[in-house]
Amino acid sequence: MATKTYVHVVKKASIAEHASIQVDLPDPPPSSQGQVRARPVLFSLTYNTLTYARMGTLLKWWDAFPVPVALPDPYGDQSQYGITPCWGYGECLESQISDISPGQLLWGYWPLSGHPVDLTLVKADMQGHWKDVSEQRKSLMTIYNRYVVRDPAMRLGELSEAKVDAMAREAVYRPVWECGYLLNRFNLSEPYVHPHGSTGPPGQLWSAAKGDLTSAIVIVHGGGGRTAQAFLDGLINNRDKGTGPLALLVVTGSPSATAIKAADFPARAIEYAAISEKSTMAWVLEQQPKKVVVVDLGGRGKSSADLGEAIKTHMAGIEALTIGVGGEPKGEAFDVTMLAQYRQGGLPDRVQMNTGPIRDALVETMGAEAYFKIVNKAWEAFVGRGNMDDLDIIWGRRVDGEDGVEGGWDTVCKGEMPANSAFVYRL
Ligand SMILES: NC(=O)c1ccc[n+]([C@@H]2O[C@H](COP(=O)([O-])OP(=O)(O)OC[C@H]3O[C@@H](n4cnc5c(N)ncnc54)[C@H](OP(=O)(O)O)[C@@H]3O)[C@@H](O)[C@H]2O)c1
Repeated sequence: MATKTYVHVVKKASIAEHASIQVDLPDPPPSSQGQVRARPVLFSLTYNTLTYARMGTLLKWWDAFPVPVALPDPYGDQSQYGITPCWGYGECLESQISDISPGQLLWGYWPLSGHPVDLTLVKADMQGHWKDVSEQRKSLMTIYNRYVVRDPAMRLGELSEAKVDAMAREAVYRPVWECGYLLNRFNLSEPYVHPHGSTGPPGQLWSAAKGDLTSAIVIVHGGGGRTAQAFLDGLINNRDKGTGPLALLVVTGSPSATAIKAADFPARAIEYAAISEKSTMAWVLEQQPKKVVVVDLGGRGKSSADLGEAIKTHMAGIEALTIGVGGEPKGEAFDVTMLAQYRQGGLPDRVQMNTGPIRDALVETMGAEAYFKIVNKAWEAFVGRGNMDDLDIIWGRRVDGEDGVEGGWDTVCKGEMPANSAFVYRL
């Protein structure tokens, strides 16, 4: 028996080169004890997904789902080709675990592709949570190895369109929302966890003195995306009284769409071109900040250099630091972009943020039950404030072709995904 399926592969060294190949994959041996075989059935493609390919080698994301070696040449070469991971729901096809049955849906990390994969799962730290302990995934951060059966009775084919729509929005927002939520609530608030998780790299200190926003202006650079939206929602709606920020400046391609009206502190959204305008920095200085905290989601073109220059010129003597969250969406390997940015010069005193290790640090100190209880409640509040209502989902039902994963990948590589949109595939 062989399974006809489309596999979507990406060239690791040149991620805009990709293909979807229809293959008769010989069925791998039936999943063995402790394994489930599952296939992605409802998953998103956004600029965050692109990051998994851009930095796939450095952060081991290619290790999650290596290309099947049975693919025709040259695509079966695991050193050259990879499968981009993505977030969403997979459906169990076969199970060798008594608590998981065929038809059940698992939330987690899946191949951006049509083919089934075998997961080697053991129970994690709370009811319904599992972790993949397969050899190839030991190199990945733990956040990517967690699978959750949210509702054992749920079957995709039996769900209402409204429920599927809500799950699609979850697939787009939830993985990156956690980043923005944690940054506001745990890195830039007590207990001031290091943005890198735990204590951070040696020699790079983090404390209340760094993370406190009481007298700080926050500048969100690249504020149009979902991660930025999650952070801004938290900054405006979910901070303890008297903890700041003093003021907020959002730099974005779409200032009019930035939801900052509800802020009870001075807040402004500007276009990238306005970074270098005198009036922008005059407004910033009017707020009399003692500190500037840049949250960098990537920006566009040479905006990092422009912002870095403006801070250096107009805010000399004011403490300035940058929390690096993301990069400009581009269909090129990350080191190419980094080199270009390095040559342009950039933002001050950068600390890289990493969601997975922050979650790990918090689960370790407060326990998984407490962590997920707090996080689930905050997620529901975020959804309840209507944050996902404007999302325009571009639905796809296949892997190959222009209206499939293949076409979506071309669009995100070119940076042409329309504002407020995201691709979701239901296979
Ligand atoms: N460090 C972490 O732990 C972590 C966690 C989650 C996400 N991230 C990263 O954060 C970044 C944003 O992810 P996301 O899910 O929020 O992305 P998203 O919602 O899909 O993407 C929107 C982002 O791209 C910009 N953009 C849109 N069209 C563009 C174009 N044509 N050219 C250049 N830029 C364009 C948008 O902002 P403007 O219109 O304002 O430019 C916005 O910053 C990614 O790099 C992601 O990997 C990091």
